Amino acid sequence: MSLNYSKKTMKHFLHPKNIGEIKNADAVAEVGNMVCGDQLSFSIKVKDGKIKDIKFLSFGCASNIATASVMTEMVKGMTLEEAQKFDWNNIVKKLDGLPQQKVHCSILAVEGLREVVSVYNKKHPEIFSKPKIKKVSTSKTKK
Ligand code: FES
Repeated sequence: MSLNYSKKTMKHFLHPKNIGEIKNADAVAEVGNMVCGDQLSFSIKVKDGKIKDIKFLSFGCASNIATASVMTEMVKGMTLEEAQKFDWNNIVKKLDGLPQQKVHCSILAVEGLREVVSVYNKKHPEIFSKPKIKKVSTSKTKK
């Protein structure tokens, strides 16, 4: 039985983008799917609260590689907050669909993204402890 992969999925599988490991990464995380056994590892570099660089290593199927590849292209430049809210449906749309039995591969990619951002955030708790400065007008109101 052959799966019906889109041309975009095949392109990302055969010529994946952002594959490898970032040296001196700001955060690294691995995730895996207990059912299929596939794994992904992500490393990120962060600057000014944005994902400056992201790379991945795949220990999985064609769809595992393609979904991680396209996702890394999509999230580069996003803020960490945007990356944590990134939805796997965006990957499926960008790849012009995935076979139903391969949709979970895009979910694994997003789990990996959320995990690597979470690792970064845990290493930088100061990001959350900064008090928000509210501008208060000091001018007196006319009566
Ligand atoms: Fe499980 Fe692709 S078959 S991630």
